[in-house]
Amino acid sequence: MIDIRNVSKSYNKGQIKAVDDLTLTVRPGEIFGFLGPNGAGKTTTIKLIVGLLKPDAGTIAVAGWDTQSEPLRAKAVTTYVPDTPAIYERLTGLEYLNFIGDVYGVPKKARLERIEKWLDIFELASAVSSPIQSYSHGMKQKIVLIAALLPGPKVMVLDEPMVGLDARAAHHMKEMMREHCDAGGTLFFSTHIMEVAEKLCDRIGIIHKGRLIACGTMEELQTRNREEQSLESIFLELTDK
Ligand SMILES: Nc1ncnc2c1ncn2[C@@H]1O[C@H](COP(=O)(O)OP(=O)(O)OP(=O)(O)O)[C@@H](O)[C@H]1O
Ligand SMILES: [Mg+2]
Repeated sequence: MIDIRNVSKSYNKGQIKAVDDLTLTVRPGEIFGFLGPNGAGKTTTIKLIVGLLKPDAGTIAVAGWDTQSEPLRAKAVTTYVPDTPAIYERLTGLEYLNFIGDVYGVPKKARLERIEKWLDIFELASAVSSPIQSYSHGMKQKIVLIAALLPGPKVMVLDEPMVGLDARAAHHMKEMMREHCDAGGTLFFSTHIMEVAEKLCDRIGIIHKGRLIACGTMEELQTRNREEQSLESIFLELTDK
């Protein structure tokens, strides 16, 4: 569903190699967790997947659509939650959600049902008529998450989605991620929370200095290292260089 082949990306005219020959496939119905130390290349990879950055080399396809030659088709099946919720602050929460609904062509009935459901779950119903600039960080994060759920996308790409969420919202977020994938959707997310990755992900990739240094199910990562090892100790061992 997400097919990344030999992708490289540098900044500052090649001085900083943020992603180095990355090859990775995320299958339909899979929750894929992307881990790595600060500056490892997670956000860069995510921006490449959603078409915000152009690879220097290699190709990326989402649901079969090449992100360079078919950008609109790739974007139409993908939603994205950035690491900082950058949204139209002057719009109210409801105006923003309707704007996203219009962009993705979500039919009225489905739109209303989904908005009502998610506002209720994320306890945001009372704030939805206020401008987004008045929201707390967590509330902004929630409205962006609801916007990402609204189109019922094939692929969700989330950059550190738990940051700023309270325990209840984080719990609902994890349930939502599982539901999305049980219904056949695919989810790619980055996180620093080892527990979340260990419990939630079907497969995990670890990136270090732009290179994928491990990829597989929790069991596969364990046997490659030592059985019974926690994800935290696998991570610390592999990235200790
Ligand atoms: N716009 C940019 N211009 C120059 N260098 C950048 C830019 N964005 C990222 N980098 C560099 O690319 C590398 C990878 O950064 P990236 O943001 O992808 O890391 P990350 O894994 O998301 O880190 P974090 O866990 O801190 O979010 C880092 O060395 C970073 O300094
Ligand atoms: Mg990042």
